Amino acid sequence: MEIIDDLKWRYATKRYSDEIVKDEILDIILDSIVLTPTSLGLQAYEVLVLDKSSSLRESLLTACSNQPQIKEASHLLFFNAWKSVSTENISEYMNRISLTRGTPLEKLEGFKSNIEKFTGGMSEQDVFSWSSMQTYIALGIAMTTAATLKVDTTPMEGFNRKAVDAIINKDNEKLSCSVILAVGYRDSENDFLSNLAKVRKLKNELISFG
Ligand SMILES: Cc1cc2nc3c(=O)[nH]c(=O)nc-3n(C[C@H](O)[C@H](O)[C@H](O)COP(=O)(O)O)c2cc1C
Repeated sequence: MEIIDDLKWRYATKRYSDEIVKDEILDIILDSIVLTPTSLGLQAYEVLVLDKSSSLRESLLTACSNQPQIKEASHLLFFNAWKSVSTENISEYMNRISLTRGTPLEKLEGFKSNIEKFTGGMSEQDVFSWSSMQTYIALGIAMTTAATLKVDTTPMEGFNRKAVDAIINKDNEKLSCSVILAVGYRDSENDFLSNLAKVRKLKNELISFG
């Protein structure tokens, strides 16, 4: 199975080479994020892409525990989860459905009020937990897509959220970074992880059939 070989090939890359991921390849990974399913279809997060030349990289380094990927990876993707859902967000979504599917807005009233009821009672923390969980689905799909393209990635939670937000989300209080994905090409010579065997539970330890 090709996909399983790709998933065996990938690993959480620690050290990246200078090779830059071409725009057309990166675009496929970004398309896979756009196609990720989300709760209610609301897509309650945004993704910020920083390339190697970004002046923000230097200040992000300390906010991300000085992890080398922040300096070395070709691109960094910041998954910024919503902390609130506004009535404008919901209306915009209804308009998008209506335009895309030709559904009259009146027919979407029931769905709209369900979303309003569901999100209306949520605290900022509730919304962030809910939306950030969904960013991890996009993260997984992006990593899998990258692996099929022989592009390396690292999912990264080892950062100070407040410090990262102060750098990348300072102009948008609605957003908070849940997870980062480094993207690029492995530096096999300098990455001690590149040749280590995968450590995983046996399938029957992890999965049971009822
Ligand atoms: C949510 C999440 C957060 C992670 N955070 C980091 C991180 O900050 N830095 C890092 O080098 N690796 C990080 N990792 C990588 C894991 O350590 C790695 O995926 C795990 O050890 C399994 O190894 P493999 O991905 O190479 O197969 C993270 C992985 C996940 C899924």
